[in-house]
Amino acid sequence: MSDAAPGFDDQRAANRANWDDRVAGHIAPDGYDVAGLLADPGRLTTVVAHDSPLLGDVRGLDLLHLQCHIGTDTLAWARLGANVTGVDFSPKALAAARRFAEEAELDITYVECDLYDAPHHVEGVFDVVYTSVGTICWLPDIAGWARVAAGFVRSGGRFFIRDGHPMLYSMDDDRTDGVYQVRYDYLDHPEPNRFDHDSSYEGSATLEHSVSFEWTHSLSSIVQALIDAGLVIDRVAEYDFLDWKFFSWMEQDGDVYRLPEADRRRVPLQFSIEAHQPER
Ligand SMILES: C[S@@+](CC[C@H](N)C(=O)[O-])C[C@H]1O[C@@H](n2cnc3c(N)ncnc32)[C@H](O)[C@@H]1O
Repeated sequence: MSDAAPGFDDQRAANRANWDDRVAGHIAPDGYDVAGLLADPGRLTTVVAHDSPLLGDVRGLDLLHLQCHIGTDTLAWARLGANVTGVDFSPKALAAARRFAEEAELDITYVECDLYDAPHHVEGVFDVVYTSVGTICWLPDIAGWARVAAGFVRSGGRFFIRDGHPMLYSMDDDRTDGVYQVRYDYLDHPEPNRFDHDSSYEGSATLEHSVSFEWTHSLSSIVQALIDAGLVIDRVAEYDFLDWKFFSWMEQDGDVYRLPEADRRRVPLQFSIEAHQPER
């Protein structure tokens, strides 16, 4: 648990109930297309298909996937030959992830725990620590997150994050008129944003636990947290595509979503950071 997050116990409990509720919709036919992923042993997820060329050959490497959700990306890393451990605090997400790994005949270790408690539940260090798309907004203490992640990176090993850009998250996604309006803070603040939505970003299931809490982390605070945790930053990138439809007016381009052509340079949609643990 993070010391820097008063009230986090209640907010985390709300978030966990909310994430448990999202699983039914995400594994349904109109959700993550798990059936398609399982049907083709050569298939990767869109996310891992993008990120794996950046990480290179992972065959035989120990890879820790933080906040792995229902394990679709986790499964894709295992298909690429990594020895994978996935961590998440949602028992329902991990029950689904374990079932999918079994169906795909892949040996994946799943650990149920809060991100901040992971050092007490996951043993050892890893060649790659990976986290991607919709993870750190659920965490109040970015410095504490970075310390946990860095603590799992073996000497000489690598860390990778890709996530929604904090500038994107500051925008009003309820607007349907094509106007980019800042609604939420970009710079960090201790109080979370409270949302009440009875549906998720994939699947049509209705959420009984509709309230969730999200925290803002600016790009500089994410980078600084990783530096302070002892990692050496190798590459920072910003992207003009998303894996989900954040604004209703986004255009589908193959497996991803982009802003209309004329707006494409206005707002960064995602970022990635690659870093390594110095040799000790
Ligand atoms: C959007 S998913 C990210 C996974 C992946 N990108 C995907 O879409 O499959 C966010 C995950 O973070 C998990 N999560 C949220 N807060 C957490 C916490 N404090 N500790 C561990 N897991 C947490 C949720 O259970 C959820 O599975």
